Amino acid sequence: MKVLMVCLGNICRSPLAEGILQHKANQHGLQWQVDSAGTGNWHVGQPPHRLSQKTALHYGVNIAHQKCRQFSASDMMQFDVIFFMERENLEDAKIIAGSQWDASKAKLLLNELHPESNKAVPDPYYGTEADYHHVFEMISKACDAFIAKHI
Ligand code: 4NP
Repeated sequence: MKVLMVCLGNICRSPLAEGILQHKANQHGLQWQVDSAGTGNWHVGQPPHRLSQKTALHYGVNIAHQKCRQFSASDMMQFDVIFFMERENLEDAKIIAGSQWDASKAKLLLNELHPESNKAVPDPYYGTEADYHHVFEMISKACDAFIAKHI
């Protein structure tokens, strides 16, 4: 299975989500490919935010190799499931994807944990290190719930 994680900047939340889900999938022996992208292009080519890297490493997940890229219409074809951190990211991706948009692949990540609640993973970009830990834990629990459906 190929899974794409999408947020706004692809430097805070979706790099964490990519690293966390790939790490858990590997631990369960699942042959999954996980990637991430942002709907915005401000940070293309950059590594994840310093505090995303530090927080991930604290929990044993190394995301230092990741590079920011922008979501593109072709991602709709390349991936089986596309998780969005919040509703706005999904709406922006829908515009980018245009005629390639496939609603059956697009899901809000926290709905894995709280079905149909449409809750957002809060953006920690202007926050503190504690906010990154909070985001890590939310994403980690949602990824556990997603994986539980596939093992
Ligand atoms: P992310 O956070 O969507 O979790 O990567 C953000 C990173 C950068 C910006 C906004 C959100 N920005 O405006 O540059």
